[in-house]
Amino acid sequence: MSKALEGVRILDFTHVQSGPTCTQLLAWFGADVIKVERPGVGDATRGQLSDIPGADSLYFTMLNHNKRSVTLDTKKPQGREVLDRLISICDVLVENFAPGALDRMGITWEHVQAINPRMIVASVKGFGQGQYAHCKVYENVAQCAGGSASTTGFDDGPPMISGAQIGDSGTGLHLALGIVAALYQRTHSGRGQKVLAPMQDAVLNLCRVKLRDQQRLERTGTMHEYPQYPDGKFGDAVPRAGNASGGGQPGSILRCKGWEADPNAYIYFITQASAWPAICRVIGEEGWIDEEAYATPAMRLLHLKPIFDRIERWTMTLTKFEAMEILNRHDIPCGPVLSMKEIAEDPALRESGTIVEVEHPVRGSYLSVGNPIKLSASPTTVTRAPLLGEHTEQVLALLGYGADDIVALRAAQAI
Ligand code: COA
Repeated sequence: MSKALEGVRILDFTHVQSGPTCTQLLAWFGADVIKVERPGVGDATRGQLSDIPGADSLYFTMLNHNKRSVTLDTKKPQGREVLDRLISICDVLVENFAPGALDRMGITWEHVQAINPRMIVASVKGFGQGQYAHCKVYENVAQCAGGSASTTGFDDGPPMISGAQIGDSGTGLHLALGIVAALYQRTHSGRGQKVLAPMQDAVLNLCRVKLRDQQRLERTGTMHEYPQYPDGKFGDAVPRAGNASGGGQPGSILRCKGWEADPNAYIYFITQASAWPAICRVIGEEGWIDEEAYATPAMRLLHLKPIFDRIERWTMTLTKFEAMEILNRHDIPCGPVLSMKEIAEDPALRESGTIVEVEHPVRGSYLSVGNPIKLSASPTTVTRAPLLGEHTEQVLALLGYGADDIVALRAAQAI
């Protein structure tokens, strides 16, 4: 079976997390991804958060599956020449260096266009245009600058960082979509273009509901779906809403049986309006179905605390899985808080290829996420991340270099 992006060649000049997330996705869709790394060093993540001495870290291996690795010192003229040849045969150059680093290497847009006018140059940067455009950015900075931190956490606590890497992996996803769109446009225009995904913008895109709420707050001075309503105070910016859904269907995280010892014995419970009668029946409060104070969603917003307290008295009698089972029988939306251990052992996630076990020649077997996007006619087979420079000679041969050239490149320490 052919793959969706078969025939697309990616010059992967990415490092750390955001860029590699993007190119790994493209590789999973079948693109030939050639990762360029510094000789002897490689992507810094190879050695970071190490758990097995001498083996590439999980940080690196989980972000670089299905790629080839080439070592190239692109600051040496011989290395730059190899890079130029790569530019001439690739469709997309993906990079996430600090602002200006690519230009300093001499790889300007004009230079790329002169060699290969069909090439798409795709970049992750921390910020787009503006006062911070020159800044280096890591995940948590993006979460702060993109509106996530100020809207996450509890009202009486500091801004909070999410465990989900929305700045890095989230931006990588955005960039991948930009690349695929540019590839499609190229089929009509015949030309490449620049694709930019700033991390601040990607985080904000994922936080758009909070920008929605900012405007609602400015117009009405209050938001009935937030825990600050009806007794607390609203300021002039969207407050942190704790575990409240803040959306059209009120929800909360509730304790389940065993919560005293198990930090994840919780369930997320949504009081969807259409499920209200079923909820009342399940928790043994049939009288609430007709009670005036609870009769409409708007009325219930005034009483969310006592409502969730009562539901929690019910969930605390059951494990999160028992509660799930009962609630789903009645079409009441809910979800267990799953630990990473539970997720790693989940047979359905293994079955769907969302969690895969990968064999690595140095580190042995390890778990990784597989492709979360399933294409029926382009299934993903996850293959291990490359060792540093594993494919250097193979790719140089593809570029037309002979054995003597390779010896010369080695002597010049360019590969
Ligand atoms: N051969 C020779 N030099 C190479 C090379 C190679 N194969 N690959 C990279 N380099 C050089 C670059 O040219 C640059 O050199 P210069 O600064 O002298 O011009 C240098 O290595 C590294 O670049 P830089 O990106 O500044 O690395 P850093 O480790 O200092 O910063 C980040 C890391 C992530 C903060 C920064 O790259 C960044 O802000 N990127 C954009 C946002 C981003 O993606 N952040 C999230 C990362 S998950």
